[in-house]
Amino acid sequence: MAVSESVHGMWSSRLMFILAAAGSAVGLGNIWRFPYLAGENGGGIFVLVYLGCIFVIGIPIMSAEILLGRSGRQSPINTMRELTAMSGANPFWQIVGWMGAIAGFMILSFYAVIAGWAISYIFQMGSGAFTGADAEFANSAFTSFTGNVWSVVGWHGLFMVMTIVIAARGVGKGLEIAVKYLMPALFVLLVVLVIYAAATTGHFMEGVSFLFSLNTEKFSWGAVLTAMGQAFFTLSLGMGAIMAYGAYMPKDASILGTATTIALLDTGVALMSGLVIFPLVFANGLESSAGPGLMFITLPIAFGQMEGGEIFGVIFFLLVTFAAITSSISLVEPAVAWIVEKAKISRAMGAVTVGGFAWLVGLGSAFSTNIWADVTIVGGMTFFYTMDYVSNNIMLPVGGVLIALFAGWILDKKIIEDQMPGRTTMFSLWRFLIRFVAPAAVSLVFVMTFI
Ligand code: PFF
Repeated sequence: MAVSESVHGMWSSRLMFILAAAGSAVGLGNIWRFPYLAGENGGGIFVLVYLGCIFVIGIPIMSAEILLGRSGRQSPINTMRELTAMSGANPFWQIVGWMGAIAGFMILSFYAVIAGWAISYIFQMGSGAFTGADAEFANSAFTSFTGNVWSVVGWHGLFMVMTIVIAARGVGKGLEIAVKYLMPALFVLLVVLVIYAAATTGHFMEGVSFLFSLNTEKFSWGAVLTAMGQAFFTLSLGMGAIMAYGAYMPKDASILGTATTIALLDTGVALMSGLVIFPLVFANGLESSAGPGLMFITLPIAFGQMEGGEIFGVIFFLLVTFAAITSSISLVEPAVAWIVEKAKISRAMGAVTVGGFAWLVGLGSAFSTNIWADVTIVGGMTFFYTMDYVSNNIMLPVGGVLIALFAGWILDKKIIEDQMPGRTTMFSLWRFLIRFVAPAAVSLVFVMTFI
């Protein structure tokens, strides 16, 4: 049966696995994407659908990915190849590994561009440029920064180099050390910011009610698809990142309990980010539905108006950068592990190859706010939006359903028994959700959105 250790290394404890997987999950998706999507889609109802997706679809699929990863103990591509063979299944199922690696590439390519913007904003906030700034100033600062191809590509490159360096150092000396320091730092910074928002804005409860009161007029199947895509994106599901991390997880840790802990941490961070951002937005009479610019235009105006805004603005963008790094290292891991297995090259070479290629593809997104701003790919979307839409709203959910179907119906029962011993109520619930509910729910949302 399955090997007990991965050739790539192992997390030193269950806690380290939780920090690494939570590090993957908590990222731009929580701090940048969740608040602006909630803002655009009217708050409460979107948040409710999102939470429903996390519990009914997200946690079961995350458990399935960990289960598959820990059974195969290799890169997702080779894990899926081996498990398909061991279960006597049709080779079609290997597609899960391949699609995941491609989706990971696509996500990393635009993810690094946004993360680069965030790094630059640490310095822009710190320079005091936004102190007392009005909307016009913040808008033009953002437009001129993202309009400058050299600065965008430079920051994007810097972020990719940081990702490559950590990935190159391997599981124990790179990934584990990064998450061990960055994750606790991230939680502390976030708590500081929530206290700041609660203590100084005077609009904290307005933020709470925006996030939690139901505004049914805003309901649409498109918004449901967005909420579901966001649930996949925020939990890093459907592309093998968690499968890759699961391959390094100690055998004695419980899969269902661990997946639930990670999902709760991730959801907590998303909601807390909303509770930092919306009170600031409302306190300064700004628009909650600003779209992707919410974090880069609206928030700097808010910080610029606030007492101590300069320093808290720096803290905020530092938080975003930490969160992005602990996610990007999980985006490269499936492909790096695969290259190392396949080509028998060093991790350093693997990390440079994967990161370098993702950086090249990312240039398309970096150019989308300047020299390619008028170039549209599908449906009037720029290269950047096309990458975001196709990977999050289509590839991750499709990958997720395939993972659910494989774990629920195809995978050899003996492997499941070995990985999830004991027939608890929690196990029965998982089995029901993974076999029936998750595939049906995702399919329903697709059908309702696209008919
Ligand atoms: N979960 C990350 C976030 O919320 O920012 C993004 C992400 C990381 C998506 C890794 C997918 C992935 F495999």
